[in-house]
Amino acid sequence: MKRTGTPAALRVAGEADLAAIAAIAIATGQDEDWGVAFPAYIRFLIANGTLLVADRAGAVLGYGGALRIEAGAAPACMLTDLFVHPDEHGSGLGRAILGELWRDQPRRMTFSSLHSHALPLYTSFGVDAWWPLLYLRGDVRALTMPGGWSAAAAEPSRVASLELAWTGSDRSAEHQMWAAWPGGAGVVASLDGQPLAAGTIGGADSEFGICHLAVDATAASDADARDAVVAVLSWLDPPDGQARACLPAPHPGTRALLSAGWRVEEFDLHMTSEPGLIDPLRLVPSPALA
Ligand SMILES: CC(C)(COP(=O)(O)OP(=O)(O)OC[C@H]1O[C@@H](n2cnc3c(N)ncnc32)[C@H](O)[C@@H]1OP(=O)(O)O)[C@@H](O)C(=O)NCCC(=O)NCCS
Repeated sequence: MKRTGTPAALRVAGEADLAAIAAIAIATGQDEDWGVAFPAYIRFLIANGTLLVADRAGAVLGYGGALRIEAGAAPACMLTDLFVHPDEHGSGLGRAILGELWRDQPRRMTFSSLHSHALPLYTSFGVDAWWPLLYLRGDVRALTMPGGWSAAAAEPSRVASLELAWTGSDRSAEHQMWAAWPGGAGVVASLDGQPLAAGTIGGADSEFGICHLAVDATAASDADARDAVVAVLSWLDPPDGQARACLPAPHPGTRALLSAGWRVEEFDLHMTSEPGLIDPLRLVPSPALA
């Protein structure tokens, strides 16, 4: 039953909202590393993006986050999070938060969940669904390092400078954050000694895997984009052999992982105000931060 009376107000979130934000995430069924990765992620958004909460008489009822990132020719506003307490679903809070986050932001994108309110709500803000982002899980021991390829640990600053040179997008703050997660590290994958992919791995337990992997799109073929993913994953050594990678369904690595016995656990829908903000054939994006 919806609580009525005092209307909710939107305000910028701060450190003191961390526990209330985690409680909303839990109430909406999120499964996160609540001890390390989730607080670090929320602090990252407070420092580098926009994080809003809907508050009614001191009670946080929902939150939403956004981050401006270089995407193609210009910055785009990535909706990173939108979560409303289930008691309040359908009462307009999601629309109110999103309207504030995407105000004056014509280039918009997000990875939409399959919740029945999500896609219609986002569509009403002028974004369309283009491709699924597959949450793939499997055994890294089923993969072998492709011929000519190698992978090696790298400082987050090195990873970020390669990505900046290849894409024009400065993701140094993100790579620093991901590398500080449990199991986190920067990685560079090279073909015949030439770096073609750079990213960060990390995450606690079942979340462990590729956080984000960029490739040199001018030098890498479809086969290279596939092999870069396989190279990084086959280089991992998790205790149970299990890892995760979120691949755009059209990414050339998708078939390779599925044919090696990896499985699709769930998927989101990539929604944007125009096609081409993310290259689904090259980037392995973070589901939250792209
Ligand atoms: C998705 C979510 C944030 C939306 O927030 P909300 O407060 O429930 O949404 P709102 O009430 O503001 O708006 C929902 C819209 O979807 C519409 N809608 C709902 N079900 C629909 C359906 N089956 N078909 C078409 N439209 C539908 C509603 O009519 C409403 O539009 P309106 O304002 O024009 O009436 C919230 O439901 C939520 O937290 N869901 C669970 C977590 C989640 O999946 N979050 C999304 C992460 S990407």
